[in-house]
Amino acid sequence: MGKICFSPCLAIYLPNMKYKILIIDDEQSVCLSLSEILNEYGYDASFCMHANQVLPLLVKSNFNLILLDIRMPEMSGVELLRKIKQVSPEIAVIIISGYASIDDAVKAMRFGALNLYQKPLELSCLLEEIGLLREAMGNIRLIGDQALYESSNPGMQSLAGKISKVAPTDATVLITGESGTGKELVVKSLHLLSGRSDKPMLSVNCAAIPDTLLESYMFGHEKGAFTDAKELHKGLFEEAGEGTIFLDEIGDMSLKSQAKLLRVLQEGTFFRIGGTTELVSKARIIAATNCDLQQDIADKKFRADLFYRLGVVTLHIPPLQERREDIIPLAYYFIKEFNAKYQKNIKYFDKDVQSMLYAHCWPGNVRELKSLMERLCIFCISDTVHLCDLPEQYLSNSHTPVKNGLISKYDEMTKSIILEAINLSQGVKKDAAIMLGIDRKTLNSRLRKFGIES
Ligand SMILES: Nc1ncnc2c1ncn2[C@@H]1O[C@H](COP(=O)(O)OP(=O)(O)OP(=O)(O)O)[C@@H](O)[C@H]1O
Ligand SMILES: [Mg+2]
Repeated sequence: MGKICFSPCLAIYLPNMKYKILIIDDEQSVCLSLSEILNEYGYDASFCMHANQVLPLLVKSNFNLILLDIRMPEMSGVELLRKIKQVSPEIAVIIISGYASIDDAVKAMRFGALNLYQKPLELSCLLEEIGLLREAMGNIRLIGDQALYESSNPGMQSLAGKISKVAPTDATVLITGESGTGKELVVKSLHLLSGRSDKPMLSVNCAAIPDTLLESYMFGHEKGAFTDAKELHKGLFEEAGEGTIFLDEIGDMSLKSQAKLLRVLQEGTFFRIGGTTELVSKARIIAATNCDLQQDIADKKFRADLFYRLGVVTLHIPPLQERREDIIPLAYYFIKEFNAKYQKNIKYFDKDVQSMLYAHCWPGNVRELKSLMERLCIFCISDTVHLCDLPEQYLSNSHTPVKNGLISKYDEMTKSIILEAINLSQGVKKDAAIMLGIDRKTLNSRLRKFGIES
């Protein structure tokens, strides 16, 4: 699952969020003692003694840090590190080894390990490094035992506030927003921040499954319920237990399935297809759509009663275009992620690239930005991204309709404020600069830029 907590653009309160550490070592004594010490220091440490069991664990749990042994019987630590970084490039990895060769160390660093500690471990150094990593974790500020992540956009701040309030409740939530805005990420954070986080979160994409299968997928079927029903099959509602069920693209659900879903929401009960035993659902339902459900109701494609049931709380994610202040931090966030994945070291976007990123209209929202960053990471050869690294379509103005308008508007406003300050200071530039809160050099360069002075 995505690392929503670490992304820069959702402000989420994470009560009691702990820094999760996985120790991978075939020596039980190392695993036991290290995990005990780390847990005493307030970390959430667990261990795995079999290299080939690690990858499935990463998919299930959100580890922040892995302490990885190099010599293990099933797979070398270096090979495992390479695989870990492919699956979860954002996880920090520190190598702990009794016998690391220089060759191993070089390879480990190349594959993205942060550091290497020789066994027996110098615990104080290791603990200090882990402490620093925890603090640096995506700039999350720890306030008491709460971690707070801030986007400066008011819409996102309000969304984050709502997420933290609604997550611990059992309320059904409907998430709306254009494609690629991060609806799935919001669902995952609702689940993570709820009391159900240790229970399953199961999803179904209502647009991707044919209607006939969808019902069986949701509610299950009895053996012999229809021709292909050779075995009893439990559906999502049964498998989820007290977890969370995510109904993605709910706008594409047929009216027939909508009626069945409404029944579960109203009564809290359902039947397997062909079944006579009434089963109880305790799962929490979260749905998402990028359709205009109000319009679908008017067009008789969506049931109004279901809409009101689902949307006890509605969370809307603004399109990226309406939260431009998130673009650059997100771009850096993704570049960091892809740097690790592709073993690159891109550090900056030059000024022109930043202006372009800021001005682009992002019809594909965050997904588009993320894909662009991956592409840049693959092709860019220096540590700075220049305009020439961008694909053609990002350079043509026709795709960036906001660009000229916004930037010239911004320039106009800046120019008129500078003129006002010059007027008020009766032409004394030193005073004007003080009034504007900028230094003389900056004022001079702006006067030249706007043609007020040559
Ligand atoms: N705030 C964010 N921080 C980090 N990554 C993000 C953020 N928002 C979106 N993303 C990333 O952008 C991509 C698209 O997000 P997601 O799949 O949640 O979109 P969606 O709204 O569900 O889109 P669709 O309607 O097409 O299903 C994902 O890779 C997701 O991880
Ligand atoms: Mg989605």
